[in-house]
Amino acid sequence: MPLKIGTLAVVRKVDELRRVVAQWHRAGDVVALVPTMGALHRGHLTLVGEARALADRVIASIFVNPTQFGPNEDFNRYPRDEAADAAKLAEAHCDLLYAPDLAEMYPAGFAATVSAGPLAEPLCGRFRPGHFAGVATVVTKLLLQACADLACFGEKDYQQLQIIRRVVRDLDIPVRTEGVPTVREEDGLALSSRNAYLSPEERRIAPALHRVLAEVAVRASAGTPGDEAASWGAAAVNAAGFTKLDYLEIRDAESLAPLAAGRPGRVFAAAWLGKTRLIDNEPLPPIPGAGTVEAGGKA
Ligand code: PAF
Repeated sequence: MPLKIGTLAVVRKVDELRRVVAQWHRAGDVVALVPTMGALHRGHLTLVGEARALADRVIASIFVNPTQFGPNEDFNRYPRDEAADAAKLAEAHCDLLYAPDLAEMYPAGFAATVSAGPLAEPLCGRFRPGHFAGVATVVTKLLLQACADLACFGEKDYQQLQIIRRVVRDLDIPVRTEGVPTVREEDGLALSSRNAYLSPEERRIAPALHRVLAEVAVRASAGTPGDEAASWGAAAVNAAGFTKLDYLEIRDAESLAPLAAGRPGRVFAAAWLGKTRLIDNEPLPPIPGAGTVEAGGKA
C-alpha cells in the first residue's frame, strides 16, 4: 500500500510505482503521467486536468532534476514544497504522486545518457549547454519507470516538447505524448515556477514578452519578412525593460530549423529580468517568407 501525504498516495521507488501501474493496467485502466519538478501552479494543474480527461488514472511525478541545471543556474534555490504540491495534486484529482529521491533516479555509477540530437542545438540549447540532454535522459527514465500510456507536457517549454516527442519516436518508447497549450496570467505572462523570483517591478515588465511575440507573429503572418519582424521584436523586448535578450527567433514549428516558406512556424524568445530567465513562444500560420535573427544583448 503506498504511503499518503495528506490524502494523496505517494510512492518513491520505481518497483512500487510499477506495481501500482501494473495493477491499474490489469484492471483495464488507461494511465497518464504528468512529469514535473514541483512548485506546482495552474499550468501544471491544467496538465493534470488534461491527463484526467484522457486517462482513467493520473500519476504526477515531482523530481527536481539536477542534470538539467547548469553550474550557475538555480538548482539550489529552485522552489520545493512537497506537502503544498501534494495538496494541489489531490485537489486536482491526481491518483498518485511519484517522488523519487536522487539515489533512486541516479544510483551510484549512473552513466548512460540520452542525446537529444539536433533539436537540442538551437534556441535554449545554445544558451544552456547540456540542459536538453539532462531533460531527455530524465524524461526517458520517468517514461520507462511509469509505463504509462500517455504523458502530458506543456507547450510553454516548446523545444523540450519537440525533443521529447523525437526521443519517444526514435527510441520506440511505448507512450503517447500530449502537448498542452500554455496557461497564462490575465496579462499574458506564461505561468512558470520561476515567476516567483520576479520583483514587483520585474513582474510588471514580464508580460511584455508575450505581447511582443504575439505582435511578431501578427507582423510575420501579415507579410513582414521574418527577419524584419524578429528584429522589431528584439528591439521591442529590450525597450520594454528586459535586462538581456538571449534570442528572439522564428523557426519551423516541428524541426526547429530556420523557417522555410509554406511551413508552420513559431516565434521563440528567452529574455532576462535581473537574475530570472523567462521563455515563451507563439504559433504563427504558414507564411510566404521567414527568417531568423540573432538577437544579442541589450544595446
Ligand atoms: O518541464 C519540466 O518541469 C521538466 O523539464 C521535466 C519535463 C519534468 C523534466 O525534469
